Amino acid sequence: MPGARVRSFSLLLAPLLLCCAHGLRHASQKTFKIDYSRDRFLKDGQPFRYISGSIHYSRVPRFYWKDRLLKMKMAGLNAIQTYVPWNFHEPQPEKYQFAGDHDVEHFIQLAQDVGLLVILRPGPYICAEWDMGGLPAWLLEKESIVLRSSDPDYLAAVDKWLGVLLPKMKRLLYQNGGPIITVQVENEYGSYIACDHNYLRFLLKRFRYYLGDDVVLFTTDGAQERFLQCGGLQGLYSTVDFGTGNNVTAAFQIQRKSEPKGPLVNSEFYTGWLDHWGSPHSTVKSEDVASSLYDILDRGANVNLYMFMGGTNFGYWNGANIPYAAQPTSYDYDAPLSEAGDLTDKYFVLQKVIQKFNPLPEGPIPPSTPKFAYGKVVLKKLKAVGEALDILCPSGPVKSLYPLTFIQVKQYFGFVLYRTTLPQNCSSPTPLSSPLDGVHDRAYVSVDGVPQGVLERNSVTTLNIMGKAGATLDLLVENMGRVNYGKHINDFKGLVSNLTLNSNILTGWTIFPLDTEDAVQTHLGSCGGQEGSCQSESHSSSSYRLPTFYAGNFSIFSGIPDLPQDTFIQFPGWTKVCDFMGRV
Ligand SMILES: *[C@@H]1O[C@H](CO)[C@@H](O)[C@H](O)[C@H]1NC(C)=O
Ligand SMILES: *[C@@H]1O[C@H](CO)[C@@H](O)[C@H](O)[C@H]1NC(C)=O
Ligand SMILES: *[C@@H]1O[C@H](CO)[C@@H](O)[C@H](O)[C@H]1NC(C)=O
Ligand SMILES: *[C@@H]1O[C@H](CO)[C@@H](O)[C@H](O)[C@H]1NC(C)=O
Repeated sequence: MPGARVRSFSLLLAPLLLCCAHGLRHASQKTFKIDYSRDRFLKDGQPFRYISGSIHYSRVPRFYWKDRLLKMKMAGLNAIQTYVPWNFHEPQPEKYQFAGDHDVEHFIQLAQDVGLLVILRPGPYICAEWDMGGLPAWLLEKESIVLRSSDPDYLAAVDKWLGVLLPKMKRLLYQNGGPIITVQVENEYGSYIACDHNYLRFLLKRFRYYLGDDVVLFTTDGAQERFLQCGGLQGLYSTVDFGTGNNVTAAFQIQRKSEPKGPLVNSEFYTGWLDHWGSPHSTVKSEDVASSLYDILDRGANVNLYMFMGGTNFGYWNGANIPYAAQPTSYDYDAPLSEAGDLTDKYFVLQKVIQKFNPLPEGPIPPSTPKFAYGKVVLKKLKAVGEALDILCPSGPVKSLYPLTFIQVKQYFGFVLYRTTLPQNCSSPTPLSSPLDGVHDRAYVSVDGVPQGVLERNSVTTLNIMGKAGATLDLLVENMGRVNYGKHINDFKGLVSNLTLNSNILTGWTIFPLDTEDAVQTHLGSCGGQEGSCQSESHSSSSYRLPTFYAGNFSIFSGIPDLPQDTFIQFPGWTKVCDFMGRV
């Protein structure tokens, strides 16, 4: 429609149109297309094959974006791929964040400055081992919402978000002078239970509306026929993803069933694998990655190495899988660039494979960043969580007969304290249970300040406690990250079902939503505050203690050049730490 309107004014605005036609002719030299007759991409009319690597700007501090992108370029890559996590940019409805570490436009621009093309994956769902697969938790305020479907409330929120994000991306498209060559719609949709093609049609329409008709839109699914059937749609180019264990021929044959013509694309070729909290770090041998990569490139296919640089799940951004297992803070992924952005053996092994197909750029590889050991930091105890409720919950608690979820008390991340009183004497060990496995995800239990143990989703649903009738029962419940994959992504947090004591439902709850970040920044950060001073404490004892805030100081010495530098921290003998460093 806008095109038709321009044409009807063309006679009146002849001089203006001449100038624009000139601009258009210039822009039209930049094209990125699928060549269906020769099974390849065409960039500016020339055959083109991408060798790309994944890096998520949300997992790397902005300060290091350019360094990491340069390292990727020097490995021989000609493109990068990134997700855009919706919840990272819209943490509260219509409160958008695009500055600093959230400046996705700057990140894409930097990639172009460094000489890399960009494959954009704006979701709205991204999986990515990211909290709720990138969907904002506030969507769950409608309890029955069917995510990733034509549910009208879901679509309304998606529509609003795409209307904010995609117009920012338009100028960065290749044909408009930017680096973005292709844009993915949704993510592995065929692996989701809904299989709602009307939802994909809705997305296709909105992406076309905001980005225009020229950009190549694609989908990615696991290399199985049934995944591509639910995940694909006419008008969206179907690609597959698979790792080193797979038969490359067979995997691409699956893509060919959906796309008999056009380029072969593996959108996620796994260089490593994800981790789960409490399990050993996943690794995949460099030689195995190298030989599969060779196999893929040797048949002329396009590939994206997922991840080339994994990085860190800062804050509360990690996701989780079912049966419930949270991902840890590190998203190292055993990728060619380590979590710290350092060059690894895998980097050089893969560079050697890539250079058989693409000449390496001239110039030095940026070295790994220097690190500095700042020495031992003595941590001092500030306050146990239960002693700091006035600071942590300044607006006061919420009362409820039965427990409420995080969403119901308007808190999305972190910790909520649930308090009630023991209705009976528990002079002998008495079972406190969550019969429906409703502790999401981990509860630190105490009676009158005496630690009783930990309840854990999916593993510990009963705990014996002791205490007198009328004593205060506290459960500090931690959200360890929302499920990011599969049919359980409507992942409510807190006490999501009733607790029982000796089979009787506990009632009369006082619920404290805790604003930990704000408290740490404003009141809890230092010793000798309003009340009491810090105490030194040793951590040799292995007995369970209640969650407590600790603080420590270290100095950045003057007289040593090039400080501050990066460092690693270790907590020897500690079991679980939530670190608010850098925010103090
Ligand atoms: C890989 O798959 C192809 C096609 O299905 C098959 O012909 C070939 O034997 C398989 N190779 C291996 C090593 O299993
Ligand atoms: C709990 O035990 C105390 C004595 O130890 C007794 O006085 C009290 O009545 C008991 N309370 C209940 C609710 O059983
Ligand atoms: C707790 O049990 C009561 C009574 O059976 C029920 O009405 C309520 O919905 C339950 N609450 C939760 C959070 O399961
Ligand atoms: C750290 O240093 C600041 C400033 O000297 C001080 O106020 C604070 O109490 C110290 N904190 C600890 C844990 O030693």
